Amino acid sequence: MSSKRKQTYLVTGGAGFIGSNFIKYLFAKYRDAVSVVNFDLLTYAGNLDNLKELETEPGYRFLRGDISKTADTGSLFDENSFDYVVNFAAESHVDRSILDSAPFIKTNIAGTQNLLDCARRGGVKMFLQVSTDEVYGSLGGEGLFTEDSPLAPNSPYSASKAAADLLVRAAFKTYGSRVIITRCSNNYGPFQFPEKLIPLMIANIIKKKDLPVYGRGENVRDWLYVADHCAAIDTALREGTAGEIYNIGGNNEYKNIDIVNLIIDLMEKRGCGGGKSLIKYVPDRPGHDLRYAIDASKIKKRLGFAPAVDFERGIAMTIDWYLSNQPWLMNIISGEYSRYYEEMYLTKYKNSGEK
Ligand code: NAD
Ligand code: DAU
Repeated sequence: MSSKRKQTYLVTGGAGFIGSNFIKYLFAKYRDAVSVVNFDLLTYAGNLDNLKELETEPGYRFLRGDISKTADTGSLFDENSFDYVVNFAAESHVDRSILDSAPFIKTNIAGTQNLLDCARRGGVKMFLQVSTDEVYGSLGGEGLFTEDSPLAPNSPYSASKAAADLLVRAAFKTYGSRVIITRCSNNYGPFQFPEKLIPLMIANIIKKKDLPVYGRGENVRDWLYVADHCAAIDTALREGTAGEIYNIGGNNEYKNIDIVNLIIDLMEKRGCGGGKSLIKYVPDRPGHDLRYAIDASKIKKRLGFAPAVDFERGIAMTIDWYLSNQPWLMNIISGEYSRYYEEMYLTKYKNSGEK
């Protein structure tokens, strides 16, 4: 056995979609060289089933706690010494932020500042803030977001993420904290909570429920397979320069309605037919950003990162994963999520929309 000291990670929000994929990515790549604490509050979006395969892994530990509570994070940093902190913990869904912004302000803003303070006192090698392209606001038909694009968030969610980014910047400027911000486009892949567009459509086709498309379905997102996001974060953490921002994107723009039709076609081929007749146009999301598109040339040129999974392969793998993991999906759909779905879709859009 090697006597080399393991690299220690604090991964916050590690029971969510991207965080759980990231922890599994770390163990798949560095197994005996890493030790990981997954610190997560287990909100509606946190699910320890996402990490079942690591339950007996000696280098992995789960601790329940709130990043915005100094009592929780104080003992976490008193009892552990971390090389890296990767902050995934957040309230992550735009529609929920429109219904109630309070947890977004608490977790995304106060929580990030609290973690920055702890990381500074703990002397971590690097603190990586997992941010989003939504902080840049919306594009028209042309152009791409670069790291120098102005911050112009349009939803309570994106405004809270932009505020967190500014606090990370302030920690660098004021205290010289070793921090990096990554801003990624829309992720998709296994273990994504079914409130988000792609898994919501897959779940509703399985259940033969309406497929709610906001507005005319003309909004554009740039989709990236989650494993590529994990690889980009790993690269930025190890190779990136403190104080820098790195955009991460898939170079893969799709209109929402085209994604929905593609999912319907792919699911039809897998024996889940009838999807087209389920499409229902519903009133638009308030403040709905028209288009996101990322210029990811900086991370490619400076750190040599480029995505490996093309969309055709990624979406097929994703649909196959959800079809093979229906107990995971149904477990979520039958719980608290059904109350959210009722409020968000069934009550709100009851008498609206055209098929
Ligand atoms: P998610 O909602 O699936 O997971 C969030 C996790 O954070 C959950 O496990 C939840 O329990 C935990 N959490 C929430 N509040 C907490 C608190 N106060 N303390 C500790 N843990 C808490 O989110 P996701 O889609 O995996 O996104 C992860 C991060 O990546 C977020 O910061 C999000 O802004 C960012 N991001 C997401 C995308 C995307 O497409 N999903 C793209 C770019 C950036
Ligand atoms: O761009 C990165 C962001 O991507 C992340 O920061 C967020 O955490 C993540 O949730 C995601 O935000 P979006 O708002 O783009 O993702 P969502 O899956 O909610 O919606 C994608 C698009 O699909 C958007 O234009 C709204 C539309 N939509 C969404 C849902 C849930 C629908 O038309 N119908 C729906 O039911």
